Amino acid sequence: MATPLAHPTPRPSINLRHDLDLSVEELNALLELAHQVKQSRQRFASSLRGRYVTLLFEKPSLRTRLTFELAIKQLGGDCVTQTGMIGDREPLKDVARNVARWTDAIVARTFSQETIEELARWSGIPVINALSDLYHPCQALADIFTLKEHFEKLRGLKLAYVGDGNNVAHSLLLNCARLGMHCSVATPPGYEPNAGIVARAREFAAISGAQIEIINDPVQAVRAAHAVYTDVWTSMGQEAEAAGRNRIFAPYQVNTELLQAARKDMLFMHCLPAKRGLEVTDEIIESPQSVVFDQAENRLHVQKSLLLLMLQ
Ligand code: CP
Ligand code: NVA
Repeated sequence: MATPLAHPTPRPSINLRHDLDLSVEELNALLELAHQVKQSRQRFASSLRGRYVTLLFEKPSLRTRLTFELAIKQLGGDCVTQTGMIGDREPLKDVARNVARWTDAIVARTFSQETIEELARWSGIPVINALSDLYHPCQALADIFTLKEHFEKLRGLKLAYVGDGNNVAHSLLLNCARLGMHCSVATPPGYEPNAGIVARAREFAAISGAQIEIINDPVQAVRAAHAVYTDVWTSMGQEAEAAGRNRIFAPYQVNTELLQAARKDMLFMHCLPAKRGLEVTDEIIESPQSVVFDQAENRLHVQKSLLLLMLQ
């Protein structure tokens, strides 16, 4: 008779290559588990004993890297971290198959979404997108969890995203659309979110009742919003465009004047790192309505919850 394994092989289907890899049911279960994880670190202290995770980072990180390393260790597992381009010394499919022989999951921050997809295709172990050019699903999980903590119910809330239609905007759009949250995105013309991702969000919104609005007017976007979110105007890898972007995005700064149009009890959100004086003023990010450090803290809790769902 076969000896039962201490840790059954994880279902290869549980990835987080992008936000849509989690079903709405899994998403809600993850948020519920994150709540329990946040309440009691001790209860889950040995849940991942004997489990190892590889972290691959092509781009810099403070929050994502540290919260994943801490999450894995606080759950009783361990991790190894590699920085630098992933597929430059050997094909990605070889990297994926090497890592899968040593560890149980991969967390990867990449330039290209295709790198994430290739790692998942070849490794056969769970792959978590820790930010790519197209998505930042772990951030969106923490953001949704933070909103739930503050407002209790997500359905019917309005989130306004003002700035660049980037990876963070994409993940927020998909999550809002699936959870019945209205999402209004205001960008300068030409910097709108990816049309294919917006189309997917609209499909989900038609089911959930969410309203999705992609516009160029920041005042209209923040009108009656429960949360106003912004991110850097120049994402990692776009540094050569910074000067031009600073000019183009200037009317999209989140400041006291813009927020006159939002609800009085609105929350200010930012994934961090922030460039004070560009996408947000120091006054707003330091205001009592700013929940940016709650978002950062919650990265730890939602990522623990994700690892438990994938590896337990
Ligand atoms: N918000 C976020 O992902 O931060 P890092 O780039 O520091 O990981
Ligand atoms: N949009 C930003 C997010 C950083 C957490 C970037 O990709 O650099």
